[in-house]
Amino acid sequence: MILQRDNLPNINQISEEMSRVLGDYDATELRQFFVYYQQCQAGAKEFGTKLENLDTEFEMLDNHNPIHHIETRMKSPRSLIRKLARKGYDFSFDAIKNNIFDIAGIRVITNYLEDINTVEKALTNQSDVTLLKRKDYISHPKPSGYRSLHLVVSVPVFRAEGPVATPVEIQLRTVGMDLWASLEHKLRYKTDVDQAKVAKYGDELKGYAVELNQIETHMQAIFDHLQTE
Ligand code: GTP
Ligand code: MG
Repeated sequence: MILQRDNLPNINQISEEMSRVLGDYDATELRQFFVYYQQCQAGAKEFGTKLENLDTEFEMLDNHNPIHHIETRMKSPRSLIRKLARKGYDFSFDAIKNNIFDIAGIRVITNYLEDINTVEKALTNQSDVTLLKRKDYISHPKPSGYRSLHLVVSVPVFRAEGPVATPVEIQLRTVGMDLWASLEHKLRYKTDVDQAKVAKYGDELKGYAVELNQIETHMQAIFDHLQTE
């Protein structure tokens, strides 16, 4: 048996240590950030449980489970800092809280196109879930060809002193969209790919995004037909 002990940061110790090393260091913002980060992580767990429960329900009660798989990630402090800089926000706790809604992120990969709708409804219909933002890159794909449905949803996280509404970003996409986005992400974010290749393959991939969408639309039709027989 493995008894796992996560070496979690102790905020009081870090604050004390920073003040000791830096003299008159004010740890208020740092503390607020750590508290919020942990709150977002708890929010992701709440949504993770909701999605797992839906997944089990679909598996047990329906002929078809819309969920292929679920991925979850916390934004690393490094990419959080980069995002703040890229978007021109200052490095304050308020700027983070008011502008960054994807500290906790969940990706739901569905089997078919219409499954995205099913999962969205099953989640946003829940009485403790509030939809804060909805970006539909399926009806309106990005110039790159990117398709997905992005939701920012909030759920109460019960802290020791009471409930606090907590935002989590949920990206919903089909297996086809996910396949496309993974490769396109490599092209876009790998800094060592030369620019000529980026332009060439970028155009090529844009075409494939359209083709994949056509294929997934046809496959949806076949699937619907099989379901009604
Ligand atoms: P970010 O700073 O990138 O998080 O932008 P944003 O918060 O304004 O959100 P946006 O709606 O642009 O979606 C951002 C996320 O969606 C990214 O982190 C990617 O996971 C994904 N994404 C958005 N556009 C693309 C794209 O063109 N290609 C790929 N592969 N992924 C994308
Ligand atoms: Mg993002």
